[in-house]
Amino acid sequence: MDLKEMAARDAVKYVEDGMVVGLGSGSTANKAIQLIGQKVKEEGIEIIGIPTSTASDLLGRAVGIRIGELDDHPQVDLTIDGADEVDSSLNLVKGLGGALVREKIVAASSRVEMIVIDDSKMVDHLCQKAPLPVEIIKYSSKSTMRKLAALGCVPELRMAEDEPFISDNLNYIVHCKFERIDDPRAMETEIGMIPGVVDSGLFIGLASKVIVASSEGVRILERAERSYE
Ligand code: 5RP
Repeated sequence: MDLKEMAARDAVKYVEDGMVVGLGSGSTANKAIQLIGQKVKEEGIEIIGIPTSTASDLLGRAVGIRIGELDDHPQVDLTIDGADEVDSSLNLVKGLGGALVREKIVAASSRVEMIVIDDSKMVDHLCQKAPLPVEIIKYSSKSTMRKLAALGCVPELRMAEDEPFISDNLNYIVHCKFERIDDPRAMETEIGMIPGVVDSGLFIGLASKVIVASSEGVRILERAERSYE
């Protein structure tokens, strides 16, 4: 079994009958969605899935999960999602799949935000390996990118072949390459204050549990208190 599937399989054990379950985005979250679909069929449990992207909506429906709207179920019991980087305080970089805005909204609406990763995603400091994705509105993309650069990064518009990538919210995504981010909470606030920024892929104080799969097995990292509760 590959490591992503190992982490996803462990997380899906926490899905129970009657739950509202946030469906994350990306390849690891997709494994979890497939396994949740299997669990719904085999065990006959009834859950409502809240997708974090068009892709997770389509996959959820395809595997037989009943899909709902966040506004009809504003309190999510458990969300299972992936991440691009996780530090030792369980702060995250997310969004290389382009779904960070809805992922963050669903995470902040969830009693438990469970992150599933392989151990290559654990880092000493955020932005060690990955750029930071930031969703911005199209209207002011150049001026917003100049302001992002002033925070000490090299911003690059995410492309899909020859055209800018368009998010599910019809915005652009900028990949900001930082040398390192020492104070992720302060950086999240600073980026969020730039006009034209919708949100960044810094998920600070949001993850409750991180399930890390490695060749030695699965370990679970837990946070006692979250920012949103
Ligand atoms: C999508 C995300 C993903 O969770 C993140 O990119 C990890 O993806 P993968 O499991 O494919 O490595 O934030 O916006």
